[in-house]
Amino acid sequence: MCLYRNIAWFIKGMRAYTRSGFENASKSFVAKDLDVSMVGRSFMITGANSGIGKATAMAIAKKGGTVHIVCRNKERAERAREEIISASGNTEVYVHVLDLSETRKVWEFAEAFKKQHLSLNVLINNAGCMVNQREINSDGLEKNFATNTLGVYVLTKCLIPLLEKSKDPRVITVSSGGMLVQKLNTDDLQTERAPFDGTMVYAQNKRQQVVMTEVWAKANPKIHFSVMHPGWADTPAVAKAMPQFHQMMRNRLRSAEQGADTVVWLAVSRATAALPSGLFFQDRQPVSAHLPLAWTHSSRRDVKAFVGRLETLALAVKPSE
Ligand SMILES: NC(=O)c1ccc[n+]([C@@H]2O[C@H](COP(=O)([O-])OP(=O)(O)OC[C@H]3O[C@@H](n4cnc5c(N)ncnc54)[C@H](OP(=O)(O)O)[C@@H]3O)[C@@H](O)[C@H]2O)c1
Repeated sequence: MCLYRNIAWFIKGMRAYTRSGFENASKSFVAKDLDVSMVGRSFMITGANSGIGKATAMAIAKKGGTVHIVCRNKERAERAREEIISASGNTEVYVHVLDLSETRKVWEFAEAFKKQHLSLNVLINNAGCMVNQREINSDGLEKNFATNTLGVYVLTKCLIPLLEKSKDPRVITVSSGGMLVQKLNTDDLQTERAPFDGTMVYAQNKRQQVVMTEVWAKANPKIHFSVMHPGWADTPAVAKAMPQFHQMMRNRLRSAEQGADTVVWLAVSRATAALPSGLFFQDRQPVSAHLPLAWTHSSRRDVKAFVGRLETLALAVKPSE
């Protein structure tokens, strides 16, 4: 019975991830939620040279917000900056070059940003990757884990004091519905023992983002945290990492703007702040972070072990002050 419920839920869920799923969901969106000025508020968006991140940066720039785009490639970042400025008329768009897979660099960047800026209202952890072979960064850490989990952990942890000083601070992390099939695995964070499957590693990282968000929300009540699934959007990451899926779904994928809609809503709307911190969202609604069959819930002990391991790995590469 439970299995059938899960299958039915899964098929319904899959449909919801497509373009028509977005069009359906958007019928109950409240248009005035996004009718807000962001003048005087600052936003940091990682991976904002492309796809969902760029669409988010564009939408926020159009609302007058100051936008810090954090990208690994200077040329691509500058091109996105010019495009955003030209379409929005907002010149408060700043480029920061950072490879989020290099944890030591993430520390350096975040510490420097904290010293140079008086406030940051919203951090959007959007950059993400699915590297299909096992690759390691210069500190010997597996790249998907370093980018999707440890980079997000260090950036957020380091910027929390700056966010706390700012008005109505928020952190939004772009996860994925793929995490629904994963239970937090604390034993092999860098996939050293299990056979390497990029899709599963990515999904595990996205589960880790959900768990981190829940932990941060409990520990930092001054900041509003949320994590979300953008649906399936047609972006370079999907075309590159999952070419067959991209080919098969091509006409049914969401646009990057549709994928970014909930990110923007979480970042700017007053409605978001009225909801509890730490939730998982899809199409402007809090949704369960677990399939009906609850095997993906993690114990308090596992969560504690996970955070302990992240902290150890993060501190091991923290530059001395
Ligand atoms: N599109 C979907 O259907 C979908 C579904 C679920 C979740 N997501 C999530 O949505 C987020 C945005 O992805 P997208 O679909 O919009 O793809 P995208 O257009 O390819 O954007 C990914 C962004 O992340 C950046 N990035 C990747 N690795 C990085 C690193 N080590 N350091 C700094 N930046 C890095 C990319 O930079 P480069 O341009 O230099 O590569 C790019 O700017 C990701 O977290 C992804 O997991 C997407």
